[in-house]
Amino acid sequence: MIIDTHAHYDDEQFDTDREELLKNMEAGGIGLIVNVGSTIESWDKIMGLTERYPFVYGAIGVHPDEAGSLDEEKFSRMSELLDLDKIIAVGEIGLDYYWDKEKHDIQKDWFIRQLDLAREKDMPVIIHSREAAADTFEIMKQHAAGMKAVIHCYSYSPEMAREYVKMGYYIGVGGVVTFKNAKKLKQVVKEIPLESVVLETDCPYLAPVPYRGKRNCSLYLPYVAEQIAELKGKTVEEVIQQTEKNSRELYDL
Ligand code: NI
Repeated sequence: MIIDTHAHYDDEQFDTDREELLKNMEAGGIGLIVNVGSTIESWDKIMGLTERYPFVYGAIGVHPDEAGSLDEEKFSRMSELLDLDKIIAVGEIGLDYYWDKEKHDIQKDWFIRQLDLAREKDMPVIIHSREAAADTFEIMKQHAAGMKAVIHCYSYSPEMAREYVKMGYYIGVGGVVTFKNAKKLKQVVKEIPLESVVLETDCPYLAPVPYRGKRNCSLYLPYVAEQIAELKGKTVEEVIQQTEKNSRELYDL
């Protein structure tokens, strides 16, 4: 089965047809979806989705763009939610110097606090990092050594990807790999072992070709698997089977 390791079905872009869309997942070969938290408001919606759909699991965390909205009270609620059965990871957390919505110190502080919380609870982490390669790597080395992690929507160099693979982390690959101009990411996929790759949509964002620019959803993941298969010289079935295994190891499913 295909596992979508990173989706945002809580997003308002799905308000009109969420139910119908999720009903079609199984028939489309999508066996399991991890709905990842970004804002504090997303948490309740994620809990609702995990309660309603057996194949939807959740991650709870606060995105670096929203880090300033965290405080001690919200952080302790986050800690409570992480103890629920269907909440299986901390995320997405990290650093974003591209949108740069929060001061770097605030981003770093809450990134580290959330990493420490994940360690305390022995849970994997979902890392968002944009234009912040060096700081992210440094913090991961110091605070997440030995932990399970996925570097989601990986956008850095092949050299750094190899370093993360050496640390035992997974590389999240989504629709971007199908873009014609995504030379760097295609090179990353060629160079790292398939055993370190997981599939993700980040939907509603980053739909693969031929849906580029449209609303993304998990049903488009076969296009991503096909591109990876081509780059690795494997069959699509091999890519689907191996990434399923990787995702289950990452999230302990
Ligand atoms: Ni995301």
